[in-house]
Amino acid sequence: MRIIVAEDREAASECAADIVERFVRSQPQASLGVATGSTTEALYAELARRHQQGGLSFAGVDVYLLDEYAGLDPDDPCRYCSVVQRALARQVDLRRDAVHCPDPDAPDPEGECCRYEHLVRSAPIGLQILGIGSNGHIAFNEPGSSLDSVTRVVPLSEQTRSDNAGFFGDGRPVPERAITQGISTILAAAELLLLACGDRKAAAVAQAVGGPVCEAVPASALQLHPSSTVILDPDAASRL
Ligand code: GLP
Repeated sequence: MRIIVAEDREAASECAADIVERFVRSQPQASLGVATGSTTEALYAELARRHQQGGLSFAGVDVYLLDEYAGLDPDDPCRYCSVVQRALARQVDLRRDAVHCPDPDAPDPEGECCRYEHLVRSAPIGLQILGIGSNGHIAFNEPGSSLDSVTRVVPLSEQTRSDNAGFFGDGRPVPERAITQGISTILAAAELLLLACGDRKAAAVAQAVGGPVCEAVPASALQLHPSSTVILDPDAASRL
């Protein structure tokens, strides 16, 4: 596992963008796994800047979401699919049909999990972008998730729902369930890139990269991957 501590939050996003840019330029038809959350929004803004000013093209790229909330209207702006459309797809030249996400409200949720698992595995993902929850989750694999887990419907922890409440505003309740790629699905990507910023992430980061690989800290699974990079700002690295 390669750990990079950048000078500040902005430099961390730029460093992550360098890795994504190198990947997209070397594999223009690539499958890119994308995460959501405030941390990755800065990364996507930097990629959009590089598209507009540096000619970085995503025209041949397909993107695959890690996870999606259940129980939101299809046009709800908090849906991760909408977030990725807004923050990345519409800012660059991704094709309209290039954003792939699971549908947790499909009539047959188990069938939908199988469909998405198969889609992601057969893509296959060349580079997977990840964030980390303050409780050590990756995607929506909460503490206790099996390292062998695959795409499935999961309940969200109180910690995660409270951390993500700010995105919903107006006191709207955060969904209680989501669909998420499993840990083994994520580990099947050729390369992993985890970006974490802020002292709220420091304890989870320290456990993920310095502690034992265990189900209590889902992000510790990155230690099992042959090609994983963790990019931190000084606050997120403060407990290493
Ligand atoms: C959500 C997502 C995760 C993401 C996490 C971090 O819970 N499901 O994939 O890593 O948020 O979000 P933030 O960057 O807002 O802290």
